[in-house]
Amino acid sequence: MKTTPPTRPFRILFVCLGNICRSPAAEIVCRAALAEAGLDGQVQVDSCGTASYHTGSRPDARMLAALERAGFAYGGHRARTLRRADAAEFDLIIPQDRENLRDVLAVFPAEAAAKVRPMSEWFPAGETRCEVPDPYYGGAEGFDDVVQLLRGAAQQLVHELIRKELQ
Ligand code: 4NP
Repeated sequence: MKTTPPTRPFRILFVCLGNICRSPAAEIVCRAALAEAGLDGQVQVDSCGTASYHTGSRPDARMLAALERAGFAYGGHRARTLRRADAAEFDLIIPQDRENLRDVLAVFPAEAAAKVRPMSEWFPAGETRCEVPDPYYGGAEGFDDVVQLLRGAAQQLVHELIRKELQ
């Protein structure tokens, strides 16, 4: 008798510095894009930070407000720190900026590097920036800008997952 192995969900981890602004927003926006595409059962998303100062915290209130303005609801995430074990537990690890990318690669074993791709790979055509800017020290407009950038990137990412059938 031919048996098919049980398929486990494809797992994506978004990474930023504090895990209170960009990566939880990426997680929320991506989860919504997956649900819209009917893929929410097949793909799991999580987020973490390379630094531990905000571990256990809710996302920054300014980011939650920007997400709400764009129509996204907070799902209860609490900040956590990147672990070396995340390299094996996730299929795709997505740092938000170049510093996050460098820090992830410093924590992970070398053979996991192929799973690590910066968020800018999915930026919409015409976007001239090459990383998700850190909105932490700026005003509300910076948070709105990040949400819009992440929304476009999440849509491109979901299109890629559909094209590649999550392989
Ligand atoms: P995030 O933003 O990396 O997008 O969560 C930041 C959060 C906290 C700090 C900097 C950036 N901080 O310096 O505490």
